[in-house]
Amino acid sequence: MAKRLFRSKWLNEWILFALLAIFINSFMIMKLLTLDLASPHAVAEMIQYSVRWAVPFIFLVTATSALFKLFPNEGFLWLLRNRRYVGLSFAMAMAWQGAFIFIVSSTHSEHYYAEIYLLRDELEGSSGYLLLAAMTLTSFGFFRRRLTPQQWTFLHRAGVYFLWAYPFSVYWWNVFYYQTQHWWDISFYGLGFAAFALRIIAWGQLMTAPPIHWSLHRMIGTGVMVGAFILAASGHLWQPLVSGTLLRPAWSSELELWLPFWPFEPFIPLFMLGVGMRIRLGRTYRQRHLTPELA
Ligand code: HEM
Repeated sequence: MAKRLFRSKWLNEWILFALLAIFINSFMIMKLLTLDLASPHAVAEMIQYSVRWAVPFIFLVTATSALFKLFPNEGFLWLLRNRRYVGLSFAMAMAWQGAFIFIVSSTHSEHYYAEIYLLRDELEGSSGYLLLAAMTLTSFGFFRRRLTPQQWTFLHRAGVYFLWAYPFSVYWWNVFYYQTQHWWDISFYGLGFAAFALRIIAWGQLMTAPPIHWSLHRMIGTGVMVGAFILAASGHLWQPLVSGTLLRPAWSSELELWLPFWPFEPFIPLFMLGVGMRIRLGRTYRQRHLTPELA
């Protein structure tokens, strides 16, 4: 029954995209009708609103392969098969954001440069849009054929990581620095963290050969991973000290002005999770890594 449902042509490929597009666009239009775009604040509200429709899709795309590796079932296979259409739904919701950014920067340019423009954000956002445009084009055969399979994989992997990192870090700062306490900030932060943590856990699972014995490195690795989860939930406690330390050198505070994400505070718990997983794997990883036929 579930298999038939997930294979139904109404829930796959372009029809799935069309349904998602109708769904997202209906909400966008309904919200638009309640606002007066003559006010720059209304346009900024639409920017936020459209991103909130986009973000779940990029988090889903980030987690899809890991979900299928960890829980191979018909539902996640369906998601894996339709990853392209989920990605295109993200691109479509981001096109709305792009349109509102264009409106605010061209028709309310004073407000834009006084209230919104920041070089670092501009570089981060423009890089995101360039990657998104390249990924969208190369998801079609005509442009895809112009890249080697390795180039295509590199572009799409780097693009997904970047486009995941952008909203993940926005919500991390909202939760731990601005401490907005909005449920949507906390939910998006949690979902973004879960999406990448699942990738790390799936990577660990793939590398682990049964039977699994408890050993010193396994215990240390598990401890580091538990520490990573504690850090992930307590950014407000360590962020001031970590930011202060990392930004103390003049070259580092200089980099912060333009380098996207620098000095990467939101990503520290995930980095630690990856390190913990690596320690946990110990020799298993080396063996599997050196003998690819085992992987
Ligand atoms: C040059 C490109 C971009 C510009 C100028 C821009 C500008 C903005 C502005 C003005 C806001 C509203 C801020 C506020 O009023 O609080 C915003 C929010 C946001 N943008 Fe962008 N953005 C760009 C690209 C991107 C990209 C590529 C992403 C990646 C997904 C992204 C993700 C977000 C997120 C997550 C929010 C927060 C929405 C919320 O409050 O829930 N932006 N952006």
